[in-house]
Amino acid sequence: MPRHLFVKKSFGSLQVESSGEGHGLKRALSATNLTTLGIGAIIGAGIFVLTGQAAAQYAGPAIVISFIISGLACAFAGLCYTEFASMIPISGSAYTYAYATLGEFLAWIIGWDLILEYLFAASTVSVGWSGYVVSFLKDFGVHIPAQLTAATNTLLVEVSGMGWKAVTGSLTHELLSKGIDIHSLPQVTALFNLPAMFIIALLTVLLVSGIKKSASFNNIMVVIKVAVIIIFIGIGFAFVSHHNWTPFIPPNTGEFGHFGWSGILRGAGVIFFAYIGFDAVSTAAQEARNPKKDMPIGILGSLGVCTILYILVAIVLTGIVSYTTLNVPDPIAVGVNAMGPSMFWLRPVIKVAAVAGLSSVILVMLLGQPRIFFSMANDGLLPAVFAKVHGKFRTPYVSQILTGVIATVLAGILPIGLLGELVSIGTLLAFVIVCISVMVLRKTQPELHRPFRTPLVPLIPMLGVITCLAQMMALPFDTWLRLVIWMVAGFFIYFLYGRRHSKVRKDLHKAP
Ligand code: ALA
Repeated sequence: MPRHLFVKKSFGSLQVESSGEGHGLKRALSATNLTTLGIGAIIGAGIFVLTGQAAAQYAGPAIVISFIISGLACAFAGLCYTEFASMIPISGSAYTYAYATLGEFLAWIIGWDLILEYLFAASTVSVGWSGYVVSFLKDFGVHIPAQLTAATNTLLVEVSGMGWKAVTGSLTHELLSKGIDIHSLPQVTALFNLPAMFIIALLTVLLVSGIKKSASFNNIMVVIKVAVIIIFIGIGFAFVSHHNWTPFIPPNTGEFGHFGWSGILRGAGVIFFAYIGFDAVSTAAQEARNPKKDMPIGILGSLGVCTILYILVAIVLTGIVSYTTLNVPDPIAVGVNAMGPSMFWLRPVIKVAAVAGLSSVILVMLLGQPRIFFSMANDGLLPAVFAKVHGKFRTPYVSQILTGVIATVLAGILPIGLLGELVSIGTLLAFVIVCISVMVLRKTQPELHRPFRTPLVPLIPMLGVITCLAQMMALPFDTWLRLVIWMVAGFFIYFLYGRRHSKVRKDLHKAP
């Protein structure tokens, strides 16, 4: 490989870039804003949908252990992110860290990979948002035509008592076991997912209009979802029946990943999605008032709060009902139903919390992506227009609008499963590279001032690499294939555009 592929950005230039009001963005976020930004990004589809499904299919009540394992992997990566985010408070997150440590080519790869995380996560979660909103409106007698509620070309059937459902193998099987032929039911083919497109467009407008407004909206959503989760945990404990926890680790069925310890591991891989988002705090580093002190609070604080809430929800949910009943799109609602009619008032409240929760996840993911583009464009790896900041709103509006348009289209036409696994593999790869970068930089530039130091280096970063790689291994072959195709597309763009326009490489040529 030519030496220039590994050209690095100097720490001197990064520190100059991060000082003052970097490139027009507004330094408006406090430690509390950063923490709520993290919680905003983390608590969403993972807890409101995946917890129950993973307990029912893979781990049983031991999903609690899965949460601890996955939380530990995130804590290792989170500690590494924090070292960088406090040291180089620039919008680019893992992309910038890699540029300073591993060189331009790997930085490009990670920047390109982060698109999988932020842009695709926004679309994935908006599809979940659409599901909750359609069901919430239906409770109030407002019906959105089924053709406008799912990915393009999805075949939907109307099942009495369940509403419109996408036709899948397991639905056909389930109906057949009840003596219903799926072909006898009313059918429609979906055109696109209108509510999912609507929420992305709406939040994009908010994000363009200013970081402060966006942070305030996020704070309100976070308060709603956290309050409702705490209410659920508090009330739920009174309804726990110990026999639902026995056996705590259901015996393995003979197949890898189906209960027993292998099921706990697979469960950890699946619910990893629930933790994604704490790293998004690092993309707002250039808008933090006091990044050196506040980035550690934002990243580790949000991760800590969410880990505790997740473990408690998992304990309560699997204690209220048998885990076997939780393979549904709204497992928390199943838990509330089991509390009896006196608690039915909690059902709409949970739906409101889910809608609020998912809204803030979409918001922060949509916030993260343009800030990566912004940094890449400042470095010349993308056209300068991506780094354009709005004169009045002081937001990277061109990147923001472009992100919004692409995410809106993806949300309208693609199914959720395909997107979700790509998000997980993309994020895990970013975590691996950040952990490696911390070790590299400690060796190559040990003298640099680090306001936050990852403890026990190289042990913690090594554990981060191992646990994240292990979770990547648990993902299906198809997802790996899509990752490779995505990366190859990225190589082409780098060699055709980025390499030729890189500012760091240009400076290198100018140097005597
Ligand atoms: N962690 C986010 C969620 O669960 C992506 O929705």
